[in-house]
Amino acid sequence: MERIRIRGGRPLCGAVRVHGGKNAVLPILTATAAIRGRFILHNCPAIRDVEITQELLAAQGVTCVRTGDTLRVDSTGLRPGPIDHRLAGRLRSSVLFLGALLTAFGAAEIPLPGGCVLGARPLDLHRSGLESLGVETACESSGLIARGRPRSGTVILRYPSVGATENLLLAALGAAGSVRILGAAREPEIDDLCAFLTACGAELTGVGTACLTLTPRPQHGAEHRILPDRMEAATYLCAAACAGGALTLTGLIPAQLAPVTQALQAAGCTIEDGADSITIHGTARRAIPPVRTGPYPDFPTDAQAPLTAALLRAEGSTVLEETVFENRFRHLPALEKMGARIEGGGTLIRIRGVPSLHGAAVDATDLRGGAAMVCAALGADGETLISHAGLLDRGYQDLIPILRSLGADAEADEPKRTTP
Ligand code: UD1
Repeated sequence: MERIRIRGGRPLCGAVRVHGGKNAVLPILTATAAIRGRFILHNCPAIRDVEITQELLAAQGVTCVRTGDTLRVDSTGLRPGPIDHRLAGRLRSSVLFLGALLTAFGAAEIPLPGGCVLGARPLDLHRSGLESLGVETACESSGLIARGRPRSGTVILRYPSVGATENLLLAALGAAGSVRILGAAREPEIDDLCAFLTACGAELTGVGTACLTLTPRPQHGAEHRILPDRMEAATYLCAAACAGGALTLTGLIPAQLAPVTQALQAAGCTIEDGADSITIHGTARRAIPPVRTGPYPDFPTDAQAPLTAALLRAEGSTVLEETVFENRFRHLPALEKMGARIEGGGTLIRIRGVPSLHGAAVDATDLRGGAAMVCAALGADGETLISHAGLLDRGYQDLIPILRSLGADAEADEPKRTTP
């Protein structure tokens, strides 16, 4: 998808089944490079980041075959292979190959990871965590190196980094004994990785808390269902809050979206939680109390940009503070081009609601920033053209067909090629 063209002003009506979680499937897929076996993974989204991970796995002798949303993964032929710099540089979770390959081969060398540009995104917690278990690490211009079998012990994370927690869990699979992580991230995607590793034979305690312990046991293949994507769900909720209408999302876990649905409810949307569904009616009409992003269970940083879009026409002013990443407001100039009024910058902004937005030609800056532009465009007057829309293929399966099925006037617009 090169560009997205949206003519706003049409309400979103209907139902959407949420796909499996991007941030859950990526670590779980990567974990299959740590364990020799055959795996069946259900509810795997067909998104670009999953395809890239499959390519990275293929270089290690791991095969993946997709049937619908099921991936059959075979890592019985696992063998060390070089990791493609270009591919690894396209997603953040490639850093998890460090822990996975360390378990598989006792040493790992990976290129520096990529992912959305949201700030410095250092890897010090990944490295210091491994080092506190006796693993030697080095960061060179070519990438990251880890060597040695982790001993049993306790790692203290000074910040609940999602990636560092996942990397340590993958490395702990090959440890000499139990590894305890104090200050672990508590995101639902970590719980899903723990559930998968348990199904593979590892022993885990403290799942869902900041004190996680993994005891390695003989590991084997397993069958697992990936948890639903709470960020995809948050995006569609915010899209509906921009466009209005009546939208039901199914196949999700409402409690995981509570900070987002509470914010939208405060803004005047009607929200109904079902057992595994959420229905939203109406638009975000009024400003809400300050919102601060933070580690789970606080307001998720990945939903900050879509929520910003949802509040652009809310009467009054709303303060949003980003505490997870230091450069996560890169989508604001595009929203301002559409008529938004936003003050501040850095990590703190104030949105002053305007009566209407208008279409514009804008550039997607990152995955969720691009999603925010889609949301804003759905509620804007006239036509919006979003370039660099390929970024959205990284995390949203069937975005345009889904929006169209809900009544949006949206199309993926491939630029015309001039024939020589
Ligand atoms: C993951 C998610 C991303 C989400 C983020 C926070 C994936 C593939 N990506 O990213 O969508 O926005 O969690 O929920 O799952 N930090 C350090 N040192 C480190 C590691 C992190 O200072 O060694 C900092 C980061 O720069 C950032 C904060 O910790 O400011 C959070 O990062 P982290 O939780 O690690 O996020 P990711 O795993 O990169």
